[in-house]
Amino acid sequence: MGSHAVLSFSLTSLTANLALNFMTPSVFIRQALASDLPSIIRLDALSNPYPWGEALVVDALQTRRNWVIEPASESVNASANSPVENVLGWLTASAIFDQSELELIVIDSAVRRQGLARKLMIVWLEAAAQQGACELLLEVRESNLGAICLYESLGFELVGRRKNYYQIEKKGQIEQGHEAACLFTLKMNV
Ligand SMILES: CC(C)(COP(=O)(O)OP(=O)(O)OC[C@H]1O[C@@H](n2cnc3c(N)ncnc32)[C@H](O)[C@@H]1OP(=O)(O)O)[C@@H](O)C(=O)NCCC(=O)NCCS
Repeated sequence: MGSHAVLSFSLTSLTANLALNFMTPSVFIRQALASDLPSIIRLDALSNPYPWGEALVVDALQTRRNWVIEPASESVNASANSPVENVLGWLTASAIFDQSELELIVIDSAVRRQGLARKLMIVWLEAAAQQGACELLLEVRESNLGAICLYESLGFELVGRRKNYYQIEKKGQIEQGHEAACLFTLKMNV
């Protein structure tokens, strides 16, 4: 990966993008509810190439900031007692002091390349900016070129590489140390 031309994220452009996103009629983004748990577990199992599993999803919903994206038609009836069954995407992030770190973003495999991940990422960026975050962090498998394109398109800059960081699965066997992690950051102009 080469260096990216955009080295920081402007809150002005972020807000403009967000306004455009909320004008999109077909999807809706909201903070996740406890009642979204089954839908998120299903999404993780079916669309995440390295599923977290139920225990980690439960922990994320209890301890992190979480957003889901869903068809706008379904969001009309969503409530704690009447969960949406068709969650199209999920983003979970943690906050530590003036930093926020992306833990996972996953979009239903059936609706990819329609800009849904970008919308979720912008909601996270906006929320982090409102909370005074100065820097956003994430790490991603070196082979995950689609996600890397997404992050770079939002202004994230590659700042490091951890060799042999991720496990990869081959023929049902877990082998260690075969894939590097790429570390990205985004400085906020708040
Ligand atoms: C990575 C992921 C979240 C992207 O979701 P998505 O909704 O398809 O992404 P978007 O449609 O918002 O894509 C926005 C931009 O990111 C880049 N991008 C996304 N997926 C890409 C791919 N497979 N190949 C190349 N570029 C890609 C493109 O620049 C794209 O813009 P474009 O479609 O106008 O070219 C999705 O593929 C996914 O859930 N993967 C499995 C989980 C995962 O790997 N998560 C990331 C690690 S935490």
